[in-house]
Amino acid sequence: MAMGETAILQYRGKNYELPVVVGTENEPAIDIRQLRAQSGLITLDDGYGNTGACESAITFIDGETGVLRYRGYPIEELAEKSNFIESAYLLIFGELPSAAQLKEFRKLLSDHEFIHEDLRHNFEGFPPNAHPMAILSAMINAVGCFQSQVVQPSDAESFTVAAARLMSKVRTIAAASYKKSIGRPMIYPRHDLYYTANFLHMMFSKPYQNYEPDPEVVRAMDLILLLHADHEQNCSTSTVRMVGSARANLWAAVAAGVCALWGPLHGGANQEVIEMLSQIHASGQSVESFIIKAKDKHSNTRLMGFGHRVYKNFDPRARIIKQACDAVLKKLGIHDPLLEIAKKLEETALRDPYFIERKLYPNVDFYSGIIMRAIGIPVNMFTVMFAIGRIPGWIAHWREVQTTPNARINRPRQVYQGAVQRSYVPIEQREWAAPQTLSSATASR
Ligand code: ACO
Repeated sequence: MAMGETAILQYRGKNYELPVVVGTENEPAIDIRQLRAQSGLITLDDGYGNTGACESAITFIDGETGVLRYRGYPIEELAEKSNFIESAYLLIFGELPSAAQLKEFRKLLSDHEFIHEDLRHNFEGFPPNAHPMAILSAMINAVGCFQSQVVQPSDAESFTVAAARLMSKVRTIAAASYKKSIGRPMIYPRHDLYYTANFLHMMFSKPYQNYEPDPEVVRAMDLILLLHADHEQNCSTSTVRMVGSARANLWAAVAAGVCALWGPLHGGANQEVIEMLSQIHASGQSVESFIIKAKDKHSNTRLMGFGHRVYKNFDPRARIIKQACDAVLKKLGIHDPLLEIAKKLEETALRDPYFIERKLYPNVDFYSGIIMRAIGIPVNMFTVMFAIGRIPGWIAHWREVQTTPNARINRPRQVYQGAVQRSYVPIEQREWAAPQTLSSATASR
């Protein structure tokens, strides 16, 4: 953290000198921690669009130029040369592993791939149509109850085991929740398979028939997980940090992150993209008329998979995914009409002044769903795939919160805009029109 410069804020005839903090990529930020104590002012930033909630050493994004780096390594290089588990290790522990460290981490992932046999019954408590993200969140908390050791974030050995345990079991829970949703028996993990292939095995094998995934399919799935592994202070990661700041345990914080990710404006968007494309395909609606609707504020329709809070030029993950999408579909010999619609939507939107002016570009979700569809992942599992990918990032952020010296519980302030102080009025003296309740609505009929 570089310091030295200051910013001056003038308010009611007084000057307030505020320190400027500069990050390692030269991003300046005004440190307002003492502002309220000195001036009585707080800052208002609805949606935290311009608020640095923490200092972090995990992931760097430059939204203006489309840069994404995990621990300094460009996402393009990692996508080409690394794999999900190695990149997960990098995110969680800060450095790429040596061969021995990677082997040890892979062994830990294998050792912890089972969930406690008693937990199999927990799946029976969910209705068949329960969303797998609801099951995932609930089961992460449930599995956490079976972990008697408290994770020591600063103890390398205990933390490594905890990280591997969570990453490994999440994948088993995810596949089991899918099997539950289709009324099929859960499939045990296979010790001889690496992480992603093992997951696909648990998803698609049957008790009488092993699924042997095409290496291209494994590579594509692994790439999707890698590209989702971290994205600094997004909604779900901020949730994990927020919950973690209360010193909640790793499992509880990650379960909360899953719930945040489920939202359609966040991780749920990949499911929404396929639903949007399928709807356009089924209705025969033209791409042009859909774009007109997406621009109309009254239509309640958005071009899903477009736009990003941070990327205002392009999402580097979307570029990588688009290429992979073409390659996988070609390799598998699949012609997907939804891919054609997606490409036309992209072309049309990128020429349209509405999208150009607002700097709206395809995000990672725009093409990832098409790959997952080609692999055979059901649409309601798309966000679960995102969650499996995001686990290393959440673990890294949870640990960063726990190991930051003097870290405080997260507690934003607000600008109150409600009623000013008033006195309680006994019910028989209240003359204003009360909000309509169910009983008053029934009575008036
Ligand atoms: N389609 C049509 N219009 C859009 C879209 C879209 N996908 N996204 C933003 N806009 C418009 C807004 O209506 C707004 O217009 P206005 O200035 O005339 O009012 C303007 O662009 C800015 O939009 P905001 O909602 O203020 O942008 P914000 O940064 O808050 O939201 C978000 C970003 C949520 C990603 C938004 O672009 C969106 O809803 N996209 C579709 C959902 C999606 O793909 N989400 C995935 C995000 S990536 C991820 O989580 C992995």
